[in-house]
Amino acid sequence: MAVSFRKLHPHFVAEVSAIDLRQVSDRQTLETLRGGMDQYGVLVFRNQPFTDPEQLAFAQRFDGTVQAVIGSQAIGRTRLGTAEVADISNVGHDGKLLPADDRRRIYALSNRLWHTDSSFREPAGRYSMLSARVIPAVRADTEFADMRAAYEALDEATKAQIESLSAHHSIAYSRQVLGFEFSQEELDLLKGAVQPLIRTNPRTQRRSLYIAAHANRIIDWPVPEGRLLLGDLIAHATQPQFVYCHVWRDGDLVIWDNLATMHRGRPYDDTRHHRELRRVTTLDIALPASP
Ligand code: OGA
Ligand code: MN
Repeated sequence: MAVSFRKLHPHFVAEVSAIDLRQVSDRQTLETLRGGMDQYGVLVFRNQPFTDPEQLAFAQRFDGTVQAVIGSQAIGRTRLGTAEVADISNVGHDGKLLPADDRRRIYALSNRLWHTDSSFREPAGRYSMLSARVIPAVRADTEFADMRAAYEALDEATKAQIESLSAHHSIAYSRQVLGFEFSQEELDLLKGAVQPLIRTNPRTQRRSLYIAAHANRIIDWPVPEGRLLLGDLIAHATQPQFVYCHVWRDGDLVIWDNLATMHRGRPYDDTRHHRELRRVTTLDIALPASP
């Protein structure tokens, strides 16, 4: 199938020409799409009327093994009854909007901090595929930052300083920053993971900064110095010239490379407007060699 890309930002992000991903299974088209991910970091597809099983099946065809645990499971049963498809919504089991003080709502508010998906797990998330099911009439956008352009724009001294550093990432930390409280039992489920500050794409050799709101300390550094450096790096990487804002339409599917970008949800009045998306995230594990 012929596929073309239209760049939406000076550094990254492309909209893909009309295609029905439910029907795409040939290796050649899938490899063209992977090439697009390597080049653009974020791909926008319009008019993708996925059901949950179709979205899951596409993610597996495209990028292999999907994540089968989601962070919010630590705080209770998920609405969809499956761990492979994450419920990115503001509604509860009864389909009604979550009240302002609902724990699940407050937990999800941390998606409004700059982050990458599942950097607090080993293996971390590689591609996230977010499908728009119910988009409110008010703006409720998602922003993306190009962490390759951000890395390349660092001064040489900073590049040298961070070259071999690692950070501890924890989802408990990014929630606690907003005042969310965990029980000891929940904390025991959320140990976190250690990740390098720099990632290299194995196909393009392009490097990116790998940081997130989950990053809470630099390994072998005193905690305060580490947090200051991480804060400076996030501020650098999210300057306007590195950021694309996605305005959602019903039926959009956006795929991003968590190893090359950060993202965050923009604020909207989620206690009044229904917004519902589904996310499937693949694991950052080696791909089988191409035929
Ligand atoms: C996500 C996420 C942000 C949003 O699905 O991983 O961070 O705008 N979403 O819903
Ligand atoms: Mn996310």
